[in-house]
Amino acid sequence: MSNCAQNNAVETSSLTKEFNFQNTKITALNDATFKIATGEFVVVLGHSGSGKSTLLNLVGGLDKPSSGTIKVCGTDLSTLNDDSLSAFRSLNIGFIFQTYNLISTLTSLENIQFPMKLSNVVNDQLIKERARELLNLVGLANRCDHLPFQMSCGEQQRVAIARALANDPPLILADEPTGNLDWPTGKEVIMFLKQISKTQKKTMIVVTHDERIVELADATMRLEKGRIVNIARHV
Ligand SMILES: Nc1ncnc2c1ncn2[C@@H]1O[C@H](COP(=O)(O)OP(=O)(O)OP(=O)(O)O)[C@@H](O)[C@H]1O
Ligand SMILES: [Mg+2]
Repeated sequence: MSNCAQNNAVETSSLTKEFNFQNTKITALNDATFKIATGEFVVVLGHSGSGKSTLLNLVGGLDKPSSGTIKVCGTDLSTLNDDSLSAFRSLNIGFIFQTYNLISTLTSLENIQFPMKLSNVVNDQLIKERARELLNLVGLANRCDHLPFQMSCGEQQRVAIARALANDPPLILADEPTGNLDWPTGKEVIMFLKQISKTQKKTMIVVTHDERIVELADATMRLEKGRIVNIARHV
């Protein structure tokens, strides 16, 4: 199992992201300094436009900050060039999106195999075995050969979770993973993520609009207009 050797899976300092849009500066994230402990299950809340996706994209190395620093498992992302950042991301960070982002022409098993093939870490036989194990873990052993359109939304999201776990990354980032699901299905997905976080000591940052998820979190971070207004730890 791949885990973060550091106490803090994520550590940022004065993280700021500005966008220039038609000669106007938009500060999407403003001076965000925070730490997330290894194994923590953190929920990020805030109104639409408050900077939640911006924050997640910066932590995940999908976007670069205007200023400030981000360390993931002790590595300062700004020290990595584009190739090493991609390699770092594929081994250390799993992404889950609201719209699943599965490849429509690949079966569920092939979708899960995809990140392992990209990162070239193990041979084809091991990749197949691990993909089957992961489908089993998300309760979809009987959906191996289904294409995304042949599955329900909840099932597609579970395949996306299995894919995020494929390379066994220590950090999982989820942007509104329950946004397209009804509450019972969404709750199941969140409970499942939390269970994986606890049993496999994975750090998870989950962006949501849904206050009902707060009670399941170890910590809650609230954003307003690009600023972190509160970080609460629930012990
Ligand atoms: N590429 C961009 N160019 C210009 N402005 C942007 C860009 N991306 C985001 N923004 C602006 O930055 C702010 C924060 O956007 P962000 O997507 O982080 O919000 P959010 O909290 O994820 O919202 P939602 O809940 O609707 O997904 C918004 O005002 C948005 O319009
Ligand atoms: Mg968003």
